[in-house]
This record gives sequence, C-alpha cells and structure tokens, in this order.
Amino acid sequence: MQAITARESMLSVGELIVSKEHTTPQNLVNNVAERFFSSTDLDAMAVIEGTEPVGLVTRPKLLFTLFRRFGFELYGKHPVIAIADTMPLIVPENERLDVVIDKALERTPQDIYDEIIVTSAAGAYKGLLSVKQLVVQQSNALASSVLQKEIASARARELEKINQVKSRFLANVTHELRSPVNAIIGLAELLRMSADKGSIEQIKERLSFMISSATNLRTVITNILDLSKIEAGKMEVSYQEVNAVSLINEIAETTRIFLGKKPVTVAVSAPDLPMSIITDPIKLRQVLMNLASNAAKFTESGSIGLKLSIVGKSMAIAVSDTGIGIKEEDLGTLFTAFGQIEDAKTKIYEGTGLGLTISKNLVELIGGTISISSIYGKGTTFIVSLPLTSKQGRT
Ligand SMILES: Nc1ncnc2c1ncn2[C@@H]1O[C@H](COP(=O)(O)OP(=O)(O)OP(=O)(O)O)[C@@H](O)[C@H]1O
Ligand SMILES: [Mg+2]
Repeated sequence: MQAITARESMLSVGELIVSKEHTTPQNLVNNVAERFFSSTDLDAMAVIEGTEPVGLVTRPKLLFTLFRRFGFELYGKHPVIAIADTMPLIVPENERLDVVIDKALERTPQDIYDEIIVTSAAGAYKGLLSVKQLVVQQSNALASSVLQKEIASARARELEKINQVKSRFLANVTHELRSPVNAIIGLAELLRMSADKGSIEQIKERLSFMISSATNLRTVITNILDLSKIEAGKMEVSYQEVNAVSLINEIAETTRIFLGKKPVTVAVSAPDLPMSIITDPIKLRQVLMNLASNAAKFTESGSIGLKLSIVGKSMAIAVSDTGIGIKEEDLGTLFTAFGQIEDAKTKIYEGTGLGLTISKNLVELIGGTISISSIYGKGTTFIVSLPLTSKQGRT
C-alpha cells in the first residue's frame, strides 16, 4: 500500500490568499496611513507597479515609521515606496504550502512578518498570504494525513482479519467435505467386502452409514451454494400461504431424529388456532431447520422448545434449548459467515459456521428479523419474527 505523505496532501498556496489589498508606489505615505487607520483589519498592502509587486507595507512598519520623532513630517508626503519593504517574500500561486512555509522561515528574523505576496506564474500580483494561516493549514494537513494513515492501516488490519476468516473457512470446509467423502469411500470398500462374504445385515448397516455421510456432504455443499447465491443477490423468493403449526411440528419431528439417543425432549407450543402466514415456505423451513439442528447439536441434555406466537402484526417463532449457551462477547460474531465460536466446548462440534449467516440472510429476504438471547452454560433462544401477511422482503 502506498503511504500518503503530508507533502502530497497539501494545497498550493493560491487557494489560501487572505487579502488582495494593494497600493501604487507613488501613493503618499499619509494616504496609505489613512487607509490603515480607517480599516483596523488591514494588516498589510502590496505595492504594485502596473501588475507587478515591488514592495510590501505592513501596519507595524508604517506605525513605527510614522510615530517616531518627526515621522509624519519626514515621511507623510513621500511616496509610500520610500517606507515599503522592497524585498518582500514573493511566491507563485502554484507553489506548495510546505515550500512556502520553509521559505518564510528561512528569512532573517527582522524580515519575517506575517505577509507573503502571491503572484501568477507570469509575475502578476494576486494577493497576500498570512504565514500564521499557512502554519494552521499545514498542521491541519499533517493531522489529516496522520488520520488517513491511521484509516489505511485500520483497513489493512480489517483485510488481514477477513483473510484469516477465509482461510479458517477453507480449512473447515475442506475438513467438512473430506470427512464424509472419506467415510463414503471407506464404507463402500467395507460394503464390497461384506458383499463378498454375503452378509446382508452388514451391507444394510454400512449402506445406512453411507447415506448419512452423503446427506451431510449434500448439506455442506448446499449451504455453500446458498450463501454464494444470497451474496450474488440471485436468491429468489416465492410467497404462499403456509400453515405454521404443521411446519413447526414437522421441524420438531426432524429435530427428534437429529437428537438420536441424546436425553433431550422436544416440545412444541402454539396457540390453539389455525396459524397461517404468507411467506416463502422453503426459506422459512430452511431457517427453522438450521436453528433446530444447532439446538440439537449444542444440547446434550434437557429440552428443546419450538414456540409459535403472534406479536402484533408479526408471527414469532422461538427455538430455545438448554444447551451449552453462548458467551455474551461471542454473540456479535454469530451471524458473520464462517464464524464458529472459538470455544473449546464448540470445537468438538462439526460444522462450517454457515448456518446462522444463511438463516439471517434468508429471514431478511422474506421480510423478517432474527434475534438471539443466550446464557452461557444454560441455553440459547433464537426468535424469528415475520410479518403475517405482507411481502416485505427484499427480492
Ligand atoms: N443453539 C446454540 N447453542 C450454542 N451455540 C450455538 C447455537 N447455535 C449456534 N451456536 C454457535 O454459533 C456458531 C455458528 O452457528 P452456525 O449454525 O452458523 O454454524 P455451525 O452450526 O457451526 O455450522 P453449520 O450450520 O454451517 O453446519 C456455532 O458453531 C456455535 O458456536
Ligand atoms: Mg448450524
């Protein structure tokens, strides 16, 4: 990355002109003094011959000259050029700010004053600069270049983090893809051996292992494809009337199958009403399946609840568990892609860390929101909230 230096970010001084005051060399000192006395803001005037600057009169120099003994009598009727500084600092308008400040400070102390004359490239008078202002401007430019560097390095750190997440994801995905493939190949070998031995029981058992490995593999691949589709904005939504009660009963049934022999009960709670909602059934089922499969995966004992309720014009579906819970500091990263929590407890669980990211995206696609509350060590609740009827989702 290219560093941004203070010098590159600086303006040229033409943009910083503070005054265009000037007088002719022949104008009398008294007249010029009159202008200084009547305008207290006036600090200096360039002395211009035609268009070319030939000197500079500053308020301190003028006052010093006039208020010395006999100053008015001696100088009042003289042309102003007589008391002007005829070697003022003159710079072209396209000169860089830092160069001009260096030039101003190089002058001998008695020649350093606040005003600098600016000319066009051809030498015509353009106006006056104030050294004080230039210094302020330069400090600002320096501060902003430091800030820009800060921003650039923050971006670099962010990119570094994304890269780390990506490589962790690749490692995860490779693992997730390879283990079921290895299992399928291994089981097929064993199957052939059992076939040779003519053992139907072993063949059946190994076939069912093969089917579950292949199914896992299909889930991982589907997840990856889904996420790329969502990210490319290519995921389509199709609304229809859905019976939410039968949907969550169906999810509960599948959750029980996921749980296998674990001592976890699955309870469904829904108002005793026909609860229909206009939504995309495939997306909603996928979201609830993701949440339920997480609940089943991260709960070793206790219960999983699926609860349906109407809150205002929304339907809320809560999936809660009495599982391992999530630490408060990890809640923020749950919905970021590939964000498996780096916790020893979760390391024993397999997964690509895509389920929640996909779920959040899908819920938003069908116009809803997803929220989470969790107590570490006690359990977790996810709530999906969907508008009852309207098609508010982004398509
Ligand atoms: N119900 C839950 N209880 C405890 N931790 C959870 C729960 N749900 C999700 N998590 C944590 O959030 C992480 C991300 O969940 P997500 O569903 O996105 O990924 P995954 O389940 O690890 O993998 P995938 O769903 O892609 O197979 C999980 O790895 C786990 O650490
Ligand atoms: Mg998951």
